[in-house]
Amino acid sequence: MMKLSKPTVLNQQPLKNRIAMAPMTTYSGQDNLFPSQAEIDYMKLRACDVGLTISPAISINHQAQAFENQITLKSDDFIEPMRPFVKAMQAGGAKAIAQLHHGGRMNVPKLYQNPQDIVSASAVKVPREGFVVPRPLSIEEIKTTINDFAEATLRAIYAGFDGIELHGANTYLLQQFFSPHTNKRSDAYGGSLSKRLRFIRELIEAVTTVIDQYAPKDFIFGYRFSPEEIESDGITLDDTTYLLDYLKDTKLDYIHASMGHYEQSSLRDDDEKTPIVKTLLSALNKQKPLMGSGGLRHFEDLQKAETLGYDYMAIGLPLIADPKAVEKIFNKQKPNQKIIKSSLPQPLYEKLYKNKDRFKKRGITF
Ligand SMILES: Cc1cc2nc3c(=O)[nH]c(=O)nc-3n(C[C@H](O)[C@H](O)[C@H](O)COP(=O)(O)O)c2cc1C
Repeated sequence: MMKLSKPTVLNQQPLKNRIAMAPMTTYSGQDNLFPSQAEIDYMKLRACDVGLTISPAISINHQAQAFENQITLKSDDFIEPMRPFVKAMQAGGAKAIAQLHHGGRMNVPKLYQNPQDIVSASAVKVPREGFVVPRPLSIEEIKTTINDFAEATLRAIYAGFDGIELHGANTYLLQQFFSPHTNKRSDAYGGSLSKRLRFIRELIEAVTTVIDQYAPKDFIFGYRFSPEEIESDGITLDDTTYLLDYLKDTKLDYIHASMGHYEQSSLRDDDEKTPIVKTLLSALNKQKPLMGSGGLRHFEDLQKAETLGYDYMAIGLPLIADPKAVEKIFNKQKPNQKIIKSSLPQPLYEKLYKNKDRFKKRGITF
């Protein structure tokens, strides 16, 4: 037995192991954006063997929705309908974490009647077809957006979640503020590294205030980030070291690295072969636990991830293909890799199937 498969305690909450179901959008909410029964059933099946279930990204206000039929906590109307979904996430004894999200410039334009609702740090468009030039948030709107995250946190508490994770990764709004590639502001929220961090800092302070005031003492608070961007003026590992140096002194209970592979070395420097995790761990200086993600498929991956120093590991695609993936990996068995169409909410299956060549490379088949 190894550390990652053993029970532990996170902010006083007992976890059956240190494996989390990775946050994975299902595109399967109802048209009114309440969780659908198909999504609830899907989650219940997969939550059985993990210590933590992290929800699909949940939008926090009317400008935050990035995907079709993405579930939301944008108003109080969504608290009650969220409860069965939270219960499904907890059904096997896992702790349920709400991933709170704002898509910023990554939002799909067809979801918005008013193009002015697609916002970001600056007017820098995603250089791909199907996106629009976002409108930079005013300082007043930044404060409102932070307040909307705080209110969504309160709703997550009321809906019965055991914790929240701020989605600061995968090029969404929080990352857009931190990145010199997407943040060209010259006010208090852009320019120097410290000013690019300001949005995240104020956000964490606002959410901390809500948690301190309204959440149970053992409510879990996590933060997900992407360590690098590939653009020449994008986020570097030095920038990320600065971010982690700040995060390690906050109220956060865990820090979650979003990567294609847990062993990954720098995307920006081909000559550098050291796994990025070394840099992340040294920046965190053992002050916060680190959750890794990406490419956990077999028992050997667990061993390697543990040797590299990850305190927790999230697992994504294998759980989509096989609800028993975690138990099988613990038992040195191979999880099923083939997606069974009838076991997934239909929109999720369709999304995966549309990109099947990409997903096949990552170890699932159709
Ligand atoms: C269908 C799908 C949806 C995803 N949605 C999210 C999301 O909502 N939030 C997030 O932070 N990451 C999301 N991710 C990334 C996963 O959390 C994870 O980091 C990635 O799949 C790598 O882990 P894996 O190799 O175990 O699948 C998604 C991935 C997939 C395949």
